[in-house]
Amino acid sequence: MSASVSASRVGVWLIGARGSVATTVVAGCAAVTAGLHPPTGLVTETPAFADSRLPALEGLVFGGHDTLDCPLPKRAEALAAGGVLPHGLPAAVGAELTAADHEIRPGGPLPGDTRTDDELIAVFAADIRDFARRRGLDRAVVVNVASTEPAATGTALPASSLYAAAALRAGCPYVNFTPSTGLHHPALASLAASSGLPHAGRDGKTGQTLLRSALGPMFAQRALAVRAWSGTNLLGGGDGASLADPAAAAAKNAGKERVLADTLGTVPEGEVHIDDVPVLGDWKTAWDHVAFDGFLGARMILQTTWQGCDSALAAPLVLDLVRLVARAHERGLSGPLAELGFFFKDPVGEGSSALGEQYAALTAFAGRLRDGRTR
Ligand SMILES: NC(=O)c1ccc[n+]([C@@H]2O[C@H](COP(=O)([O-])OP(=O)(O)OC[C@H]3O[C@@H](n4cnc5c(N)ncnc54)[C@H](O)[C@@H]3O)[C@@H](O)[C@H]2O)c1
Repeated sequence: MSASVSASRVGVWLIGARGSVATTVVAGCAAVTAGLHPPTGLVTETPAFADSRLPALEGLVFGGHDTLDCPLPKRAEALAAGGVLPHGLPAAVGAELTAADHEIRPGGPLPGDTRTDDELIAVFAADIRDFARRRGLDRAVVVNVASTEPAATGTALPASSLYAAAALRAGCPYVNFTPSTGLHHPALASLAASSGLPHAGRDGKTGQTLLRSALGPMFAQRALAVRAWSGTNLLGGGDGASLADPAAAAAKNAGKERVLADTLGTVPEGEVHIDDVPVLGDWKTAWDHVAFDGFLGARMILQTTWQGCDSALAAPLVLDLVRLVARAHERGLSGPLAELGFFFKDPVGEGSSALGEQYAALTAFAGRLRDGRTR
C-alpha cells in the first residue's frame, strides 16, 4: 500500500555515501519509486503509517560524504555481481545513481589531514547547506552509514562526531545507523540539547539483535529461565572488514548484549563473536544458541540460524528513519526520538528493548505525526 504522503522535498545526506548500505538505499529508493519492485521491508509503507504525512519516497534527494571516490554506479554494479542488488537494477536506475554520485563530497579526516576539528565541521556543514540550497530542499536529514569506528576514548572527537556536529551546525536532524559515537560524545551534549533538532540512533537492528529482541521477551513472558545465550556472526564486505577490528566489534556487541539484559532481566552467560569471512560479502550468517531451563529444571536448547543480506535488511530501515525523522522535524519535535527504538540495537532515550513494545511505541508515534500533537 502507499501511505498518504506529503509533497515536501527532503534531502538524505549519507555519511559513508559510497558504502553498501548507502548504495542500496539510493538504488532501492529509485527501484521502488519507479515501480520496479514492491516496497518489501519498508515499515513506513504499511497501513499503520497511512496519513502520517511522511515525505514521499519520490521527494527524497540523495547526497553525502565519503572518503572513497569509487563512482556510485560502479559500486552498484559490484553489489549486483554479489547478488545484493537484482541483476540489471544498476542500469535501470543509472540516472538516479549518477545524480546522487554528483552530490557526494570528500569526507574526512583523511590520512595526514592537518585541518582542525572545527575546520572539518565547518567544511562538512557548508557542504550540507550548499546541497539543501542548490536542490531547493525543505529540509535534509543526515544519516551516518559510514564504517563502524572503535569506541571513542578521551576527549578527541571521532569522525562520526565531527559529522554529527556538522549536521547540527547545518540545522539538520541526525540519525546514527551505526554503533559509532556520533552525537553521543560528551562535548556535543549541550549543543544537541540546545539545537532544537530531533535525532535518532544508534546502530540499526537488522538481524541477530532483531531476533533477540523478539525472542528475549518470549522467554521472560513464559517464565523460562535462560541460562546461556551465545552467538556467532560470519560476514564479509566492508562491514565485515571493519568489524574484524576487536575495538569496532566491541562497540557493536555491546548493543546486542544489552538487549538480552533488558528483556530477560538478567545477564545470561555467553558471548557474541563476529568473524570476517570476505567471500561471504554482504551475506551474513548469525547463529544463536540458547540454553534454558523449563519446569522442574528440564534442560532445553533453542538454536537459530539467520542468513540475511545485510544491506537489503538495512536500506529500507534507513528510508523509514529518514521519512519519520523528517516528519518529526516538520512537526517541531526535538531531542532524542525514543519512539524509534524499534529500529535500533542501542536506542536513544528511555524505552523498552522488547520488539513488541517498541512496535507499539512506534505506531503511537505515527499517530502523533498524523495529528500534529507534539507531546
Ligand atoms: N545490516 C546492516 O547492514 C547494518 C546494520 C546495522 C548497522 N550497520 C552499519 O552501517 C554501516 C555501513 O555498513 P556498510 O555495509 O555499508 O559498510 P561499507 O564498508 O560498505 O561502507 C562504509 C562506507 O563508509 C565510508 N567511510 C569510512 N570512513 C569515513 C569517513 N570518515 N567519512 C566518510 N565516509 C567514510 C567508507 O569509505 C565506505 O564507503 C556500518 O557502520 C555498519 O556497522 C549496518
